[in-house]
Amino acid sequence: MAELTYLSHSSWLIKTNDYTIAIDPFLEGNPLAQLKPSDVKADFIIVTHAHGDHLGDSIPIAKQSGGTIITNFEIANYCSAKGANVHPMHIGGAHEFPFGKVKLTPAWHGSSFPDGSYGGTPAGVLVTVAGKTIYHTGDTGLFLDMQLIGQLHPVDIFLVNIGDNFTMGIDDAVKAVEFVKPKLTIPMHYKTFDVIDVDPQEFVNKVQKKGYGVKLMQIGESYRF
Ligand code: NI
Ligand code: MN
Repeated sequence: MAELTYLSHSSWLIKTNDYTIAIDPFLEGNPLAQLKPSDVKADFIIVTHAHGDHLGDSIPIAKQSGGTIITNFEIANYCSAKGANVHPMHIGGAHEFPFGKVKLTPAWHGSSFPDGSYGGTPAGVLVTVAGKTIYHTGDTGLFLDMQLIGQLHPVDIFLVNIGDNFTMGIDDAVKAVEFVKPKLTIPMHYKTFDVIDVDPQEFVNKVQKKGYGVKLMQIGESYRF
């Protein structure tokens, strides 16, 4: 058994019996966040790209927890230079960690750090934990190779951005669900800022109409799998 908790935006916590894994923990400066960085202890922190709303509080959380940041080579170097434990990876590569398997997938987006320096290419991530595979898209536009990701790695839980402007909007995200064919879809990356203030219920209705399982998660809500 494991538990997936929505922290808002693209930020998630996965808890297994033995480990806590954070994905894109963005709390400080996030108007929707209910937790402070100091509230989060994580053994591993997965970072999809260097933008401030994804790298977020990964470094302080890693340092206070003694946790390891799993991310692309460029972001890993940046975090390591700031004193965090890191495990560098890159697009297409997979690795077995004590909690399960991580594979970085492509994402069509940018990945500069808040100071403008180079953060490598952005990623999505497949996390296989407790026998289930979670696909977190990171920030991305729609791309046809999502079909391949779904074919090679049957996806149990699809965490998909729907906020538009910086990433896929609702209709493209519905198409992404049709490409990936997950058992369950959960939308993310909406409402945090005015420019991504879309209605997630519209997404839910459209996904249901296509015959796929979809769930809206409240901030702080957990889902056991
Ligand atoms: Ni971004
Ligand atoms: Mn973002």
